[in-house]
Amino acid sequence: MKKVSVIGAGHVGAKTTYYIAEKGIANVVMVDIVEGMPQAKGLDFTHAAPLRNYGVTTVGTNDYSEIADSDVVVITAGIPRKPGMDRMDLLKINTDIVKTASRNVANYAPNATIIVVSNPLDIMCMVALDASGFALKRVFGMAGILDSTRFRYFVAEKLDVAVTDVQAMVLGGHGDTMVPMPRFTTVSGIPITELMSPEDIELLTVRTRNGGAEIVKHLKTGSAYYAPAASAAEMVEAVLTNEKRIAPACAYLRGEYGYEAIYLGVPVLIGANGAEKIIELDLDEGEKALLDNSAAAVKKGLADLRSFYTMA
Ligand code: LAC
Repeated sequence: MKKVSVIGAGHVGAKTTYYIAEKGIANVVMVDIVEGMPQAKGLDFTHAAPLRNYGVTTVGTNDYSEIADSDVVVITAGIPRKPGMDRMDLLKINTDIVKTASRNVANYAPNATIIVVSNPLDIMCMVALDASGFALKRVFGMAGILDSTRFRYFVAEKLDVAVTDVQAMVLGGHGDTMVPMPRFTTVSGIPITELMSPEDIELLTVRTRNGGAEIVKHLKTGSAYYAPAASAAEMVEAVLTNEKRIAPACAYLRGEYGYEAIYLGVPVLIGANGAEKIIELDLDEGEKALLDNSAAAVKKGLADLRSFYTMA
């Protein structure tokens, strides 16, 4: 049986663990610093196993050594912004958390593939890459599948068609500047540009960009977790089963799309070796301008990171 570890047993980490268990594809270890909490959730999941039909184990722990020999490690640990904190405060705290997690992964699970979920995602991927010392393909981030599943849902709702028939592509950083791509978003192969007015498409792309914020506005004390966890579980499955899925993910770019040494959401072939290949789409001028804008926001985040963090 394959083994997956999930770092952080908060809403996203716990839900990710649960979805992986329900897929029956791996035993899952969930690590958190809060004493008792991951143990309780891990146990609770095992109690649901007879009802939800899974034979895998789910273990919660405070001890990183239990992630030994994991095939995949999902890093969800981090804190959301609290009142009075600015983005820089959050960046510093989550950098510390992701750095510690990544060092532990390198120590105990040196052959794992790391999927980063913690925010700010594009920057946390760089921290995980640096702190783990892993190969580029084996450190990548979850956001594109989340952003595109939101876009898929909004399109399906608007057109009143099956959600499963809608495929969507959302590129760029995981933030306000993300770039939903109508030309590469289809219903059973038909581009939505054939099915909807430009005005409707614009409304849905704006809603997609604000998809996370819309949830935060309702919740007030936190951010989304069901769709983020479902998205992370899809990526875990693609790696574990060498599925060769093509999906947007946050990957390290070495010249692709004209960007160097940044993590950015792009279409990726996901298989046993992680982010196996980056697919370069031929973007038109408008699309490229939007992606440039998003890449610039990520570069600004990286500059902020470098102001207090020295890369190895
Ligand atoms: C979102 C946050 C969790 O998009 O990144 O919902």
